[in-house]
Amino acid sequence: KKKMTISDFQTYKEEGRKFTYVTAYDYTMASIVDESECEVILVGDSLAMVMLGYKSTVGVTMEDMIHHIKPVVKGAPNTFIAGDMPFGSYNVSAEQAIANASRMLMETNCDCIKLEGGVDLAPTIARMVKAGIPVMGHIGLTPQTSTSLGGFRVQGGTPESARKLIEDAKAIEAAGAFSIVVECVPSVVAKELTQALRIPVLGIGAGPDVDCQVLVTQDLLGMYGDFKPKFVKQFAQIRKAMVDGLNLFHEETLNGSFPSPEYSFNKAVDIPKLY
Ligand code: KIV
Ligand code: NA
Repeated sequence: KKKMTISDFQTYKEEGRKFTYVTAYDYTMASIVDESECEVILVGDSLAMVMLGYKSTVGVTMEDMIHHIKPVVKGAPNTFIAGDMPFGSYNVSAEQAIANASRMLMETNCDCIKLEGGVDLAPTIARMVKAGIPVMGHIGLTPQTSTSLGGFRVQGGTPESARKLIEDAKAIEAAGAFSIVVECVPSVVAKELTQALRIPVLGIGAGPDVDCQVLVTQDLLGMYGDFKPKFVKQFAQIRKAMVDGLNLFHEETLNGSFPSPEYSFNKAVDIPKLY
């Protein structure tokens, strides 16, 4: 598998070639995604919930993100990797955003950063892009500000909010972002956005007419047990396979069938008397 480049994002869109984008937060999962055909990895701030057990993504720090991005970069050398900027790390000023994004890129060696926001964030994104930072946008349901949006719900469901979404997307594109995540919007709105933008639309809960499908790996493999959004299809039931495996280990330990000689060191040795 050949690692995608920033210019491939554009080429794929122009050629109508679909691609996929999934999360990883650790070395083992990153290496599994790397072995698959999936083209892009996000080290999302969703690690707050999936890895750290928080109730929302707010609370994750730059240090947390960097801690998780580093092993993903090591585990997935052939996959394009985006690092998510956490809440509070880019909304103070363009200087703050540039400093934190630069730090993320330099300390982890990931391929781009992602941040949430529309028209209001566009000037910051323009400054970041001028500073040489590859920026992926994220609009629609933006989990970091979901409290202000009234919870995890569909965005762009009215004519006014759909128009606002298109304005947001256009502003992010004009600011120089090379791609944009669109989360939890009606399929018709996402289709419109995909046609209106030159940059690829990376859709999650955005229907079929987008350039790329995004899902949280632990959701699509059926690993995460707390909550399943409507847009998540479970393509495997890994949680059940894991619990079954653990129970088999437990059972064979109790009945003595594990560890058999195959899993033991069987060479006879003279053991010094210890007592
Ligand atoms: O953090 C995350 O997993 C995300 C995706 C839902 C796009 O931002
Ligand atoms: Na995120």
